[in-house]
Amino acid sequence: MVQNKFNLIVAACENSGIGIKGNLPWRLKNELKYFNKMTTSTVDPTKKNAVIMGRLTYFGIPASKRPLPNRLNIVLSSKSVASDYPADVVLCTSLHQAMEKLLDTNLGSNIESIWICGGYSVYKEAMASDYCHRIYYTEIKQMFDCDAFFPDIPSSFKIVPNGEDIPSEEQEENGLKYQYKIYEKQNP
Ligand SMILES: NC(=O)c1ccc[n+]([C@@H]2O[C@H](COP(=O)([O-])OP(=O)(O)OC[C@H]3O[C@@H](n4cnc5c(N)ncnc54)[C@H](OP(=O)(O)O)[C@@H]3O)[C@@H](O)[C@H]2O)c1
Repeated sequence: MVQNKFNLIVAACENSGIGIKGNLPWRLKNELKYFNKMTTSTVDPTKKNAVIMGRLTYFGIPASKRPLPNRLNIVLSSKSVASDYPADVVLCTSLHQAMEKLLDTNLGSNIESIWICGGYSVYKEAMASDYCHRIYYTEIKQMFDCDAFFPDIPSSFKIVPNGEDIPSEEQEENGLKYQYKIYEKQNP
């Protein structure tokens, strides 16, 4: 049975940008590896994780790399039809419907963790939800020209320590500095 909480994962730059023209504004190989490790790893080897994303985020993933492998891909869209996607992608018309399917049907029976992968409106609704536990936030320490953004983080979230498996020191790739941070929603 899937846990009834989810986490968000995002990389955002100094002006809170996350995307440009359907793509990522930067190329950070190790940061992408971190995204893949975080969203794929399970404690129970018989289980996998679910990733939930908006239609534009899904189609922003290079065609050869989607659906994201070894994860249950759930795409949110009000306009798409199932035939727009490979058979193993689950299409939902709302975040609520996606959570209902994961928590109340067989779909969730072999799912360990649920990851919210963007974009803007999915992140915004997810942060306001009672299902939200943490935001795994990669802070990219530069401004980029962007047309998709991460919403303001509500004051109910506080930074918590990274733990052993996530480096807390500043990272650098191709001259671009970034840092892994974790925000946790505090109990009201
Ligand atoms: N840096 C990062 O970590 C990161 C993460 C994610 C995405 N990105 C980037 O961000 C950009 C995409 O984000 P975006 O905000 O523009 O778009 P998006 O949220 O990925 O997609 C928007 C579409 O998703 C559907 N949708 C969203 N929320 C929904 C809901 N609650 N219920 C039903 N459908 C919903 C709608 O599709 P319909 O129009 O079909 O109804 C909407 O038009 C890309 O550039 C991508 O590369 C970056």
